[in-house]
Amino acid sequence: MSPDDRSKRERVSAEVAQLDADQAREEVTYLAKQIEQANQAYHRDDAPLVSDAEFDSWRLRYAAIEARFPHLVRADSPLKQIGASPADGFGKITHMKRMLSLANAFSAEDVADFVSGIRRFLNIAPEIPLAFTAEPKIDGLSLSLRYERQSLVYAATRGDGATGEDVTANARTVAEIPHRLSGAPDILEVRGEIFMSHADFTSLNARHSAVGGKIFANPRNAAAGSLRQLDPEITRARPLRFFAYAWGETSEPLAETQTQAILRLEALGFQTNPLFRRCESLDEMLATYAEIEAQRATLGYDIDGVVYKLDALSLQERLGLRSTTPRWAIAHKFPAELAWTLLEGIDIQVGRTGALSPVARLKPVTVGGVVVSNATLHNEDYIAGRDSRGAPIREGRDIRVGDWVEVYRAGDVIPKIRDVDLARRAADAARFQMPDHCPECGNPALREPGDSVRRCTGGMSCPAQAVERLKHFVSRPAFDIEGLGAKQIESFWRDGWIATPRDIFTLRERFGPGQPRQLKNREGWGAKSAEKLFDAIDEKRRIPLSRLIFAFGLRHVGETTAALLASHYGTWDSLRDSLRAACDPESAAFADLIAIDGVGPVMAQSLIAGFQAEAEQIDALAACLEILAPQARTSESPVAGKTLVFTGTLERMSRAEAKARAEALGAKVAGSVSAKTDLLIAGPGAGSKATKAAELGIEVIDEDQWLALIGAG
Ligand code: IVH
Repeated sequence: MSPDDRSKRERVSAEVAQLDADQAREEVTYLAKQIEQANQAYHRDDAPLVSDAEFDSWRLRYAAIEARFPHLVRADSPLKQIGASPADGFGKITHMKRMLSLANAFSAEDVADFVSGIRRFLNIAPEIPLAFTAEPKIDGLSLSLRYERQSLVYAATRGDGATGEDVTANARTVAEIPHRLSGAPDILEVRGEIFMSHADFTSLNARHSAVGGKIFANPRNAAAGSLRQLDPEITRARPLRFFAYAWGETSEPLAETQTQAILRLEALGFQTNPLFRRCESLDEMLATYAEIEAQRATLGYDIDGVVYKLDALSLQERLGLRSTTPRWAIAHKFPAELAWTLLEGIDIQVGRTGALSPVARLKPVTVGGVVVSNATLHNEDYIAGRDSRGAPIREGRDIRVGDWVEVYRAGDVIPKIRDVDLARRAADAARFQMPDHCPECGNPALREPGDSVRRCTGGMSCPAQAVERLKHFVSRPAFDIEGLGAKQIESFWRDGWIATPRDIFTLRERFGPGQPRQLKNREGWGAKSAEKLFDAIDEKRRIPLSRLIFAFGLRHVGETTAALLASHYGTWDSLRDSLRAACDPESAAFADLIAIDGVGPVMAQSLIAGFQAEAEQIDALAACLEILAPQARTSESPVAGKTLVFTGTLERMSRAEAKARAEALGAKVAGSVSAKTDLLIAGPGAGSKATKAAELGIEVIDEDQWLALIGAG
């Protein structure tokens, strides 16, 4: 088996297995930012920073880290977001049904898992046939067309999935989008992909080049740029195409199967993809993938994979959705690319927690249309050719400056060095030595036992750590101050305007109206933008306790832990006093801290040390804030906020399905009965759990009552 065929997911998991919690946290922060920026650039500005394959690889890696370090799952996880918020200049349209994204598969094995997962979820035995559809994944941008009483009323882009841009006038200029239908349901939202063919893309760029106009990087951008013209006449002059492949709100069901629905859309006058196939088995699905891949180069438009969907719509309904992706569909992506280039140098970056990360500086090389000049090298072990347990990676080949290296752009964060060509290594190439002092502040950089990275010991006296901490402080899941991002923090930091978090909250006093030096006079600022920033800062003086805890950026304390601590301690005063008292490992406060489910000794140590080392700064900051105690959840459904336990055999759905439905309604599903259980759903054969529930006086219902309760009976 060639390395290309190896499951990317496995490789990524293996790589992620080498990370320690701190590295993972830093990477999650880094990746979230990369994904967010790439998302904005791709979906909103039509100017991709990276290729799709690279973007997918970031998401894959992000997902692997979330899976291995569940405490790092952030409420604003980029995996839970689709696209980007709508751009200014177009009206906004709230989709009646969210526009979804797709989960990705990178190997045949992933597709097999997708199929068997569905069987398990729906309780369908392997011998019972289950049909899927397969069709190309078009590399364009998705569009929702709403028809009411047979007339096109609006067209909206996906935006962030919930709200998109109103591009109706432009969509009306696209020949393949019908203005009127005949025989459609009264309400019908048709969803599909807007794209540009290779031929049209080439001639558009040629025309633009002749008159010094904008040159688009690829057909997708050209399509997006054309659809987002403020003048529809410009859109009209650009030949856009549209394939219909899904639907949103409909006043009556379109069909019983995906296949019939596609045929119906075709009958209504929409273009659907000619390579669409119905597949009766996994083998057929994979054969269709191979067929479509073989035709990729001659299709005349860009595709980046194959989408499989469960054919029966009733089963799609039962499977439902994860936060942004359906359980009943998956995108099987085409493999990404590789390139060889020269490793010109290794830079060391210092992160928020002081970790020294080596970054490869590469002779720029184009991989699949994107120029790559940096790649991650993880840590010194990775460079040396071994993992954190000493086992060889790359068969033990180390990486040296001056080497020819193979850059790999799928399943990685930023591109990664996958291999090195020893035959081309210079005789005098020296082994790489990780610096033992921080390149930013000169303090010793130590590697503690069990840690895979070297860390700068300078703490907040290290400018790199201090500024990274501030960036974390203002980041989206922390204080999320509009107009105060990494760029502004760096600039304020450089000029000494902001050195600690508290300085953010005294910015107006120091640089506002009437002061000798004023923000409005800084380059890039004006009276309006300065006032806006001061207001945005004031707005965040009221901050939920959990966000504040997370914002401190202590090692091992992610959003989940922050939320746990907030709900455990309830108020800021109680949290601060308890953590200070917990310095004494004999204290009741310490015992209380480590008794919190989800707080281990390492985390506890980090919290205690953090609150002690930065006590003054923390108090000064807290004095500027109104810290909000966590609120109890309000109930939206009969089971919202309740803890349920399922036991015995469920006859009308699998455990997984029952659990998914309960969770979708806001319930927590536990594995065992305790005093915290609110409701036990007991099928035939229920044993000790039912007895225990009876003893504890917990309400017990059967499957039919359960289905009636959630309105599914
Ligand atoms: S189905 C219910 N089918 O891929 C899921 N999407 O990565 C809705 N895309 O947002 C999408 N070709 O923009 C579907 N044949 C196809 C597609 C397709 C391209 C895009 C679409 C979607 C994205 C998800």
